[in-house]
Amino acid sequence: MLVGKILTVATLKGGSGKSTFAACLSVYWHLNGFKTVLIDADPQSSVARIGEREEELGGLPVLTVSPRGLDDKIAKLAGEYDYVITDTAGFKNPATIAAISVADHVLIPIKPSPLDSTLRATLPLWCSKFQSRPAGARR
Ligand SMILES: Nc1ncnc2c1ncn2[C@@H]1O[C@H](COP(=O)(O)OP(=O)(O)OP(=O)(O)O)[C@@H](O)[C@H]1O
Ligand SMILES: [Mg+2]
Repeated sequence: MLVGKILTVATLKGGSGKSTFAACLSVYWHLNGFKTVLIDADPQSSVARIGEREEELGGLPVLTVSPRGLDDKIAKLAGEYDYVITDTAGFKNPATIAAISVADHVLIPIKPSPLDSTLRATLPLWCSKFQSRPAGARR
């Protein structure tokens, strides 16, 4: 079992497979008996729309959220679920920064192609985890 229960899937490269990966991993855990919730923090709402179709994601709960207070909301859900996975947008925005700030793991899908492999924009975003909360904060 993975150590840590809050996972955020994030990269500033659009179309890299964030939503596919977040949805597949969530459904896998859900179907294997782990209490899992998938948060759709992308305004495109791709996974939320799929989740609305009956049984499309195997009955996995999918939440749409607003960026305000998202870090605290994720932390609260972590007390209720085995895994909290957040799918983020392919551009920098407050929801992505909040979801990274509370994450135990940040998963960065990268297609093995020259145009996809640069993390120039994503890595500073990931580093924001260590700047967005005051020293001594919970995470
Ligand atoms: N492992 C994979 N193998 C092959 N194709 C994939 C894989 N993962 C995703 N895809 C395809 O790549 C495309 C983009 O996937 P997806 O929507 O998950 O990316 P995304 O990073 O969430 O995009 P966005 O930045 O727009 O939110 C889709 O057509 C999807 O079917
Ligand atoms: Mg997506």
